Amino acid sequence: MNTVRTFKKMKESGEKIVMLTAYDYPSAKFTEAAGIDIILVGDSLGMVVQGYHDTLQVTMDDMIYHTRATRRGAPNSFIAGDMPFMSYHLNIDETKKNAARFIVEGGANAVKLEGGKPSRLEAIKAIRDCEIPVIAHLGLTPQSIHSLGGYAIQGKTKSDFDLLKEQALAVQEAGAFLLVLEGIPEQLGKEITESLSIPTIGIGAGRYTDGQVLVYHDILGMSDIEPKFLKVYARLSESIPQSIKEFYDDVKKGRFPAEEHIYKPIK
Ligand code: KIV
Repeated sequence: MNTVRTFKKMKESGEKIVMLTAYDYPSAKFTEAAGIDIILVGDSLGMVVQGYHDTLQVTMDDMIYHTRATRRGAPNSFIAGDMPFMSYHLNIDETKKNAARFIVEGGANAVKLEGGKPSRLEAIKAIRDCEIPVIAHLGLTPQSIHSLGGYAIQGKTKSDFDLLKEQALAVQEAGAFLLVLEGIPEQLGKEITESLSIPTIGIGAGRYTDGQVLVYHDILGMSDIEPKFLKVYARLSESIPQSIKEFYDDVKKGRFPAEEHIYKPIK
C-alpha cells in the first residue's frame, strides 16, 4: 500500500500522482482496480451522491459512513477522508476527535481540510500531533463558497496570487504532507509546486502540479456540470438510463425473463 513516503518519493522522481474520489464499495473497487494512487472520500459526495447544491450540509456521520464503505471496496489503497464543514472550525479537541474518527471508525489513512489561515494551520498542527497525516486544500475551497462569493477561480489578482503562495508554504510548515490546489491559474500552480517540498495535486490548477485529482462522477459523465478543467471519459448519464429503459421495455413486452433466466426443477 502507498504511504506518505511514497508520495514524497513520487514528487522527487517526477512521477505524477493520481488521486480520484470514491464514496462507496463499487466506486472504491473500480478505483483500486485501476491502480489510482490515492482515493479521496471527498465531501463532494454531498453534491454527487446526496444531491445537495453544495458541500456544506455534509456531516461527520455521513463522511464516516462513506469512508467505511470505501475502505471495504479498496482494502489496499491509501484513503484520505475529507473533513466536512465545521468539523475542524470550533476547537482543537473537536478537530482532533473528528480527524481520529476517520482513522478509527472509517479506516482512512489521512484526512483533508480546507484553507490556510492561522486557525487552519493550528488545526493541521493539532491533527499532526495525533500522528494523523493531513492533506491541505487551497484556492477555490468549496466550503468557503459563501465568503468567496461563489465558485470563482482564485489567485487571479497579484495580492491573492501572493497570499496563496504564502499559505502554501504555511500549510507545509504546519505539517501537511500533500496540498490540493483547486481552481487557480496554471502559473500559480507551477510556482507553488516549485516552491514546496511536499507534493501538490491539482484540480483546475494547470499542468505543472505533482499530480491531478478529479471527481469520480465527473470523469464518468454523471454530473450535471462540465467545468473547463474536466475531462470526461465515459457518458454514464446516457448509458445508465438507456439500460434501465431497456429493462422496463423487456418486462412490459414479456422479453424478460427469458428461457435462460428461469430455474427448472430437477428431473
Ligand atoms: O470533495 C472533493 O471531492 C474534493 C476534491 C475535488 C479535491 O475536495
